[in-house]
Amino acid sequence: MASHKVTVVGAGNVGASTAQRILEAGLADVVLVDIIEGLPQGKALDLAEAAPIVGHAGHIIGTNDYADTAGSDVIVITSGLARQPGMSRDDLLARNAAIVRSVVQEAAPRSPDAILVVVTNPLDAMCHVALRTSGFPGSRVIGMAGVLDSARFRTFLAMETGVSVTSTSALVMGGHGDSMVPLPSRTTVGGVPITEMLTGEQIERLVKRTRGGGGEIVSLLKSGSAYYAPAASVYRMVEAILGDRQEILPCAAYLQGQYGIDGLFVGVPVRLGRRGVEQIVEIELTADERAALEASAAAVRELVQALDAIPVPAA
Ligand code: NAI
Ligand code: 2OP
Repeated sequence: MASHKVTVVGAGNVGASTAQRILEAGLADVVLVDIIEGLPQGKALDLAEAAPIVGHAGHIIGTNDYADTAGSDVIVITSGLARQPGMSRDDLLARNAAIVRSVVQEAAPRSPDAILVVVTNPLDAMCHVALRTSGFPGSRVIGMAGVLDSARFRTFLAMETGVSVTSTSALVMGGHGDSMVPLPSRTTVGGVPITEMLTGEQIERLVKRTRGGGGEIVSLLKSGSAYYAPAASVYRMVEAILGDRQEILPCAAYLQGQYGIDGLFVGVPVRLGRRGVEQIVEIELTADERAALEASAAAVRELVQALDAIPVPAA
């Protein structure tokens, strides 16, 4: 048995891939939960049967019963619907809010000290649902987006320059949507800011591709959205939390005045450790970057207000 327990809710693409990474790295024992009977049980058994080949002694169960999740250190929430033809953005917002609410109502009381890592879209609004429903402090509700969006920026940068992705570093702040804020001034190749080595046209192209990174995968896959890089991003966050690494990663965090934003989840650099968000790191932004962050926060606020205004259907 590993010394940590992680519940992953949603045994779909992102959830199952996340469970696999956590299990096979020996980071924690995993409880995989889904509303569909047989799905989490089948995926968990399949993952368990890979253990003798991969060579780990981790433990995973699949279940539809939240009793099995009790005492989790981290709860990852990936349960949700993808947008269907004919479904409005508000419909999706309301349906996924109902799902996240019902999941948190079941899971949070059984693991009152857990850290919630929210993945379900629309990400920043779903963090609000998780915060309100759990009653947890803001420091223990964290959204996954910035790690993924920054990794996409780095990937495109490496493709553009021919330099190894390991020599790149990037920062994307703001909400996880069209208004996200990639920061070229904080994005480097071998420590050199890209603003000093690429043309404005190149940077603009990379920024645009990063903003559309999720959509680019959807249009290639035709059905469903990205899951390998999202699962790797969740893994990175869970590793930082359980390992008490005090690592600075961009995440959707509950801001209470930082960056001039109050009572809202927005992507910012945070220091992650065993207590969740241990610090919200405030970096200097140029006037343009600050304006972009404010516009992105306004878009998140609009979604949260829409959520408050629409009747929430049953999950
Ligand atoms: P998926 O459709 O493969 O899996 C979703 C799973 O949730 C399904 O197995 C479904 O049965 C389950 N589910 C639905 N209602 C449930 C409930 N009430 N309780 C428990 N399980 C329930 O979707 P995928 O690709 O895994 O994506 C999951 C979510 O993550 C989506 O909302 C997607 O948009 C979001 N996402 C967010 C990213 C981010 O950067 N924040 C990146 C990638 C995906
Ligand atoms: C992504 O960025 C769909 O939010 C998901 O891939």
